Amino acid sequence: MSRELKIKAAEAAFEFVKDGMKLGIGTGSTADEFIRILGDNVAKGFSVIGVPTSERSAALCREVGVPLTTLDETPELDLTVDGADETDRALTLIKGGGGALLREKIVAAASADMVVIADDSKLVDTLGAFPLPIEVNPFGLGATRRAVEKCTQALGLSGEISLREADGKPYLTDGGHFILDASFGRIPDAEALSSALLEIPGVVQHGLFIGLASTVVLAGEGGITLLRR
Ligand code: 5RP
Repeated sequence: MSRELKIKAAEAAFEFVKDGMKLGIGTGSTADEFIRILGDNVAKGFSVIGVPTSERSAALCREVGVPLTTLDETPELDLTVDGADETDRALTLIKGGGGALLREKIVAAASADMVVIADDSKLVDTLGAFPLPIEVNPFGLGATRRAVEKCTQALGLSGEISLREADGKPYLTDGGHFILDASFGRIPDAEALSSALLEIPGVVQHGLFIGLASTVVLAGEGGITLLRR
């Protein structure tokens, strides 16, 4: 996705932001463009306050002057704007390519509304070409991984389940957890997979976002398309 399309998606999402709103602020290269647009508008006198979904987004918000709060101080938000790795037409998402899925889901669930920004290549008929991130507790990794394999096989899903690494070590999320990336290829029943994964004690959260997004803003060469639920 070109930077130009990311900026276009972020600009279109900014139309949903009203003065005085309490925002959830996403993570990723598209969300970064949204944060920069927010910063430009705050500098012109626009008033918002935001809860960032990662340390990375928090740092960028500070750099561009977006005022921050926490879900402890501000437990209910008006709107979250975030990127996605895939969306289907029911606005079920795969998120977590950038490793922030847990905080992203907590923040989206605390928001009255969620607008997703992406380029149109992320719209798919069936989710799953993008590997599903599954955030797990480091304790008992081997057993959790085996349980994930068994429960997904029982649902007819197959494919490599690999531990995400960074610099030759397991990737650590902001919450101190690991991520398993599950390359299923196709996820025909996201609800069934979600319920099964959340039954496994070592699974902290997964990257399927079901019923959270109300609007997806897709930027393409032909312009902006809005998908709504
Ligand atoms: C981070 C995410 C991102 O929103 C997702 O990976 C999309 O990122 P990008 O805008 O860089 O393509 O879920 O955890």
